[in-house]
Order: sequence, then structure tokens, then C-alpha cells
Amino acid sequence: MSEMRTRTVKDYSNAPLCLSGRGVTRAFGLGEKRKLAVDHVDFDFHEGEFVSIVGESGSGKTTLSKMLLGLLNLTEGQILFQGKPRDISTGRKQREYWKGIQAIFQDPFSSFNVFHKIDSVLLDCIHMRGGRHLSKEKKIEMMTEACSFVNLKFAELTNKYPFELSGGQMQRLMIARIFLLKPRILLADEPTSMVDACSRATILDMLLDLRNETGMTIIFITHDIGLAYYISDTVYIMEHGRFVESGNAEEVILNPQAEYTKRLISDVPKIHEEWDLSTVDLLRAE
Ligand SMILES: Nc1ncnc2c1ncn2[C@@H]1O[C@H](COP(=O)(O)OP(=O)(O)OP(=O)(O)O)[C@@H](O)[C@H]1O
Ligand SMILES: [Mg+2]
Repeated sequence: MSEMRTRTVKDYSNAPLCLSGRGVTRAFGLGEKRKLAVDHVDFDFHEGEFVSIVGESGSGKTTLSKMLLGLLNLTEGQILFQGKPRDISTGRKQREYWKGIQAIFQDPFSSFNVFHKIDSVLLDCIHMRGGRHLSKEKKIEMMTEACSFVNLKFAELTNKYPFELSGGQMQRLMIARIFLLKPRILLADEPTSMVDACSRATILDMLLDLRNETGMTIIFITHDIGLAYYISDTVYIMEHGRFVESGNAEEVILNPQAEYTKRLISDVPKIHEEWDLSTVDLLRAE
């Protein structure tokens, strides 16, 4: 990967808790057909941590994401937000929760209302963050800054509709939205699937920059263990709805214990050469 940067690995186990799960379970179907898509998983995501959830197709990643976002009920178990049981029992509490957690989905085109011009997509973000009273100049300045963060030119985007953008531009527009919304947690479900390898690296770098600038927690969902290695502090390896292994990305990927993890790694050709370890900069927290 040509755009590879020095990887910084930090231990977040002592950082404040952001999102946790205890026995989180989701079943689909009834009787004989009943199947646990997510099967009693436990996790602790910390503030500022870059977490990857890695697993093959059908392992339950999207089902878990939907539960994390509060879009799908849990069959069993509990989700804790900032250390306390999450309460999204009313519309108002749900909206409050969504100020803290935002998502980028697999298909960026599904995330926008195609009838809203890009200016209004970005303007909405400023308004959601309580910026309705700001002057027009200030709002334009903020939108321009958000666009330049993702290498888009705001002036060229005004008056355009989302469908007039390329897949890569759409992905970047989604990150510009996150830049304006500044949630505490960003959940990114395979955000790179629509773009080529080069813009893929750029987008991952943007997510890292976003985390570094804002201290937000990023939960990155992928089937690509090589990418997870490149980008994350912590990995959770998911197989058939369960976490078979989790921990520091370095430790898990360079010294996998579970057979499933070993298999995922063996599917990535030359993982050790491609992700040149000589550039890894270990910054262990005291
Ligand atoms: N609404 C649903 N009704 C019934 N079964 C479902 C539903 N949603 C997901 N499943 C099943 O749950 C399992 C996990 O699906 P999920 O979409 O979470 O996997 P995934 O890890 O995100 O896969 P991919 O990498 O392909 O996106 C699959 O067996 C799927 O068929
Ligand atoms: Mg999925």
C-alpha cells in the first residue's frame, strides 16, 4: 500500500468506557428456523479507540452494528453507553443517543435523501449540532472546512445533488458529515467496498485523522483482516455470531490463537510483508 503511514498502537484498556456489551444476542426466525445471528458477545470499546470487528460474510457484523446503533432490538443481553445501561426507550432518548453515535453504511447512496442538495445535507449537520443561529458566512466556512478535510471543494459541490457525485466522492461527503456532526462514536460498516484500493487507503487515513483530531471512538466493520491490522488498535474476530478472539490488533494478528483467525490471516497473501512491521511504532500507555 503506497500511502502507508506509520502505525501507532496504543493500549486503551484504561481509557474511559464508551460502549460496552454483555451477552448481546440477536435471534432471527422461530422454532426449527431459529438462528442466533449474534450469540452472547461481550465487548468494551473505549474513548478514542479504533476497533475493528472482523469476520466473514454472514458472521453477524451488520446485525451487531444495528444493535449498537439502536436500530434493532436485542433478543438478550445489554448494551452500556459510557458505562451506564443504554436507555433508548423513547423517541427523545433515541435522538439523544444518536447525537453520540453515527454510522457510515456499506452503500453511501442509501444514506442520503437524493432530493436534497449537498449544501442542505451539510447544513443539516450544522443545525443538528445546534448551529442554526450561526451566520450564513460562518456556516459556509464550516462546510468549506469539512469539505477540505476530505479533499472536496465545497464551491464545486454547492447546488449539486448526491447522485451527481462518484462513489468515492460520496464516501468522502459522508466523512465530511461526520466531521461536522462530531459524534462520540462512529460506526463504519465496510465503508471502503465501493471504492478502488487507492481511495480506500485515503478514506481509512481520513478516518484515522478524524479519530486523532476529535478523539472519537471508531468501530470499523470489515471482512479484511489485513485492513484491520493496518488501521486498528483493537480487533474482535467474529465467527458464526461469536467473538472467537479479541485484543490488541498486533497481538491478535501476529500471534493468533483461534483456528478461525489463523485461517483469515492465511487467506491474506503476504500479510507480514505487505504491512511492513519495521514502520510500526509501539506507543504503549503506561
Ligand atoms: N432480518 C433478518 N432476518 C433473518 N435473518 C437475518 C436477518 N438479518 C440477518 N440475518 C442472518 O443473520 C446472519 C448474520 O447476518 P449479517 O448481515 O449480520 O452478517 P454480516 O457479517 O454483516 O455479513 P456481510 O459480511 O455479508 O455483510 C446471516 O445468517 C443472515 O442471514
Ligand atoms: Mg454486513
